[in-house]
Amino acid sequence: MNILLLGGGGREHALAWKLAKSRLLAGRDDTLYAAPGNPGIADHAQLVALDASDHGAVIAFCDGHGVGLVVVGPEAPLVDGLGDSLREAGIAVFGPSKAAAQLEGSKGFTKDLCQRAGIPTAGYVRATSLNNALAALENFNPPYVLKADGLAAGKGVVIAETRTDAEAALAEMFGGQFGEAGAEVVIEEFMTGEEASFFALTDGASVMTFGSAQDHKRVGEGDTGPNTGGMGAYSPARILDPITRGQVLERIIAPTVRTLADEGTPYSGVLFAGLMLTEHGPKLIEYNCRFGDPECQVLMMRLEDDLGELLLACAENRLGTIQRVHMRSETALTVVMAAEGYPGTPQKGGAIDLGEAEEDGAKVFHAGTALKDGQLVASGGRVLNVTALGETVTEAAAAAYGAVDEIEAPSLFCRRDIGWREIAREAAARSGKAS
Ligand code: AMP
Ligand code: GLY
Repeated sequence: MNILLLGGGGREHALAWKLAKSRLLAGRDDTLYAAPGNPGIADHAQLVALDASDHGAVIAFCDGHGVGLVVVGPEAPLVDGLGDSLREAGIAVFGPSKAAAQLEGSKGFTKDLCQRAGIPTAGYVRATSLNNALAALENFNPPYVLKADGLAAGKGVVIAETRTDAEAALAEMFGGQFGEAGAEVVIEEFMTGEEASFFALTDGASVMTFGSAQDHKRVGEGDTGPNTGGMGAYSPARILDPITRGQVLERIIAPTVRTLADEGTPYSGVLFAGLMLTEHGPKLIEYNCRFGDPECQVLMMRLEDDLGELLLACAENRLGTIQRVHMRSETALTVVMAAEGYPGTPQKGGAIDLGEAEEDGAKVFHAGTALKDGQLVASGGRVLNVTALGETVTEAAAAAYGAVDEIEAPSLFCRRDIGWREIAREAAARSGKAS
């Protein structure tokens, strides 16, 4: 069959790389299309110019090119209802409906769902005016967690240490800092613990665990500096031990899927749960309605199964016919190489020479790259995702950084400590064993 992949970042390069190996694309005439794609994705797919916000154009392309499955990478087209438009046109799509994508599209929607379904999460108040929000601060203790309700490219969360800072941040949010996304604000109780991400596939009825990961959101080493889309990740997150994973499935994922189905808006696609592992057990921080970026890169590196078959089974409501997802037992770790200036204004156009980076089995996924007169250059904030496998996080990090060091790209930087928490735990376990 022909498959259309929407998106053009590192997540989509990883998806394209795995999809290209699928039995669904084994026929001589089977084609993987990607829109808009990037120079890395072009190794696996035929790139096409399509605007995902133009649903009619996407449907016309699928009809004209015999596309049997559309895989939507980013959240914006899903929150915008592209999944519904495709389904109405009879085209199988991996990704939720507009109503179910509200799990990512509205933080207040998710908090209300958690309350209805008894899902553990931070206490909260929704506010639709600055005055209400300022009054609601009275019910919280510092630090104050303030969130723009809508999609804000991962930037809509402010953690304010003092009441004065919180008041100033709320004024900016209601003043239009995040545009429409900040017309409503959610104020939350601050949770403490370690964060981890949990992924599950669902077709609205069956739920299948799809692995875990830990991201590094701050730009600087030691988790300092401003928040980013993610500077590196590894999978699995060993802190999500089997007992905790069971609790996440039973207390968070299953009731979410069940409640949405019972309410007539079943969720189909990947559920990406951001979790806080608190002393009272795992609590939901937020949901995303797509794979994480760069978490997807490490999940794809470990996935042993046919990605195309899994995504099609989800799209066709027959996930129940698949027994489980098989992942390599090794750890995968990815280091994000970003352009100087990121997460502010990134420097564009810097030359990139990948050298021998993939020589020892590492994989370099392209995020913000472009070809200029045949030269690979940086064209975005996060530019490359250098990904490798190892028996431990320590070994996977050594392999990934070995590959990073092969890359000649003076305008890019990376954090040198991806995996630090787990590397410290592994060192402690080794010295425990040695003594
Ligand atoms: P979100 O975009 O909702 O994932 O939030 C971004 C980051 O803010 C999370 O990864 C956490 O580090 C932090 N955060 C969000 N909500 C809370 C909370 N209720 N308590 C503590 N930290 C939070
Ligand atoms: N890396 C975090 C995200 O994709 O939302």
